[in-house]
Amino acid sequence: MSKITGFGTYAPEKIVDNQYFEELIDTNDEWIVTRTGIKTRRMAAADQLTSDMSVKAVEELVSRSGKDIKDVDFIVVCTTSPDQTMPNTASRVQDKMGIENAGCIDIYAACAGFVYGLQIAHGYVNSGIYKKVLVIGAEALSRITDYADRTSCILFGDGAGAAIVEPSEEEHFLSFNSGTDGDLGHDLYLTRENTIINGLDSRPNGKIIQNGKAVFKWAVRSIPIKVRELVAKAGLELEDIDFIVPHSANLRILESISKDLNYPMSKVPESVSDFGNTSSASIPLAISKEIRNGNIKSGMTVLMIGFGGGLTFAGTIVKW
Ligand code: COA
Repeated sequence: MSKITGFGTYAPEKIVDNQYFEELIDTNDEWIVTRTGIKTRRMAAADQLTSDMSVKAVEELVSRSGKDIKDVDFIVVCTTSPDQTMPNTASRVQDKMGIENAGCIDIYAACAGFVYGLQIAHGYVNSGIYKKVLVIGAEALSRITDYADRTSCILFGDGAGAAIVEPSEEEHFLSFNSGTDGDLGHDLYLTRENTIINGLDSRPNGKIIQNGKAVFKWAVRSIPIKVRELVAKAGLELEDIDFIVPHSANLRILESISKDLNYPMSKVPESVSDFGNTSSASIPLAISKEIRNGNIKSGMTVLMIGFGGGLTFAGTIVKW
């Protein structure tokens, strides 16, 4: 049995407002706010990598929880914007944090990454293979955003979140699901070319190409079904769930999910208005806000569901 025993987040200092884009592309604040709910997003410094933001999130986790991380025995970094594909970002975190004996993997599951990471951690801890698993969702999306594409560049931001999963006397993970519509992969993907975007070397990652409308429709159609499935698998009713935390892709997507489920928006935490779409960091950033506000507390039931490029999704319900 296992539970989340530590939690922390980080967002870079540089705040990019919507006016910034008015100088780059043909857009305006009103369009961006109305269509996406995004007011600001954060952008990593030129020398700040995904592993650096990961380290900051883990440092916040340590200061909030008092956890010792030197004995972490496995690190999963969930990202679409790794420092580089080899060595993986988890190995960079292991080195930078002086964690001596940890297995290290990166997983690439786009905006569903963090929840897939929690599922992996739960599996490892419950099987007894590892005892202290660090799950990090971290993104330097500004490195892979095409700032000439007005339909996508206004969406993305940088940030990181981290959780520790450890054995527990009671099971805190109540249900899981995941799945992929691989035939829709062409609606959200990274090109392979190595381009210079906005003065930044995009490394071998290429840039994000998206059919926003198609992704939007897929998300609002499938995610409510998957939320209901998770709740049923846990033997619960929607009323038993204190917070539903979908990936903060776009405020309109969250509003549509809330409406479809007849579940109040006041219990659907979001990070997109302040931080933009931060992919695998968006769920931890949204949860972090509610923890700070004193709303998410120990013992509460929190449903998380990530979704995005694949097109893939992963969900879990946890007792906080
Ligand atoms: N500023 C101003 N106008 C813009 C614009 C921008 N940044 N981007 C697009 N437009 C224009 C379009 O060209 C179009 O003009 P037209 O009607 O003259 O052709 C119009 O706005 C409407 O575009 P459309 O694509 O229909 O807008 P939309 O309501 O679907 O919103 C997104 C676009 C990208 C915000 C929306 O589709 C979305 O959020 N999709 C999901 C994206 C997402 O969450 N991805 C990650 C999933 S993990």
